[in-house]
Amino acid sequence: MRLDKCLEKAEIGSRKQVKKLFKAQQICIDGQVATSLSQIVDPGLQNITVEGQRVELEGSRYYLLHKPAGVVSAVSDKDHQTVIDLIEPEDRADGLYPVGRLDRDTEGLLLITNNGPLGFRMLHPKHHVDKVYYVEVNGPLEPDASAFFAQGVRFLDGTCCQPADLTILETSMEHSRAVIRIGEGKFHQVKKMFLAYGVKVTYLKRTSFGPFQLGDLQVGTYRSLTEAELQDLKTYFRE
Ligand code: URA
Repeated sequence: MRLDKCLEKAEIGSRKQVKKLFKAQQICIDGQVATSLSQIVDPGLQNITVEGQRVELEGSRYYLLHKPAGVVSAVSDKDHQTVIDLIEPEDRADGLYPVGRLDRDTEGLLLITNNGPLGFRMLHPKHHVDKVYYVEVNGPLEPDASAFFAQGVRFLDGTCCQPADLTILETSMEHSRAVIRIGEGKFHQVKKMFLAYGVKVTYLKRTSFGPFQLGDLQVGTYRSLTEAELQDLKTYFRE
């Protein structure tokens, strides 16, 4: 099979994206940079990678999962149940992994796929995949809170975040509820942003990730992307 056909079959991206990755020497076969998109490859015998991520050809799987609190966003863990453990045996495939991570105590939407290169690209900062979280905190969110988040929060260690959109739903001295939209994915980002404002997050749930919505997906369950969502995914990453 030709390399370009193989990458098309694995849904790596548009023809233009594949050409760009090839020119950037990001496509490797058994550790060697690919020299031609028309070269013949055997994905069963050779290890084909894009941006360091293995290309799986057995058919791409895409699931939206509502992660419960207590479950870890990992492929395996010796102490805790993982998000992959929640996938039924008949829906499993080699290379399934969560795109990005939610903390163990965070609930909400996770995309699970075996399309390594696509997931890797979704996490790349240049794509600014928006994430929306429902947040509860242990103190007040004053009217100036939205401006504080909009100007880009700075953590105590000096790390600067991009501007975020805060909508306050309800606030009191002991408890507030809000929705926040961020375009990046730093470690513990939402919790640290609210801490920088002066309150502690007591409950966190991701309600959307890029073009996908949590909707009424029940906690602990998952579903495959619809055809329309699959198209959205491909459109989202077409440059
Ligand atoms: N920000 C956090 O602090 N935790 C998460 O799980 C996700 C975003």
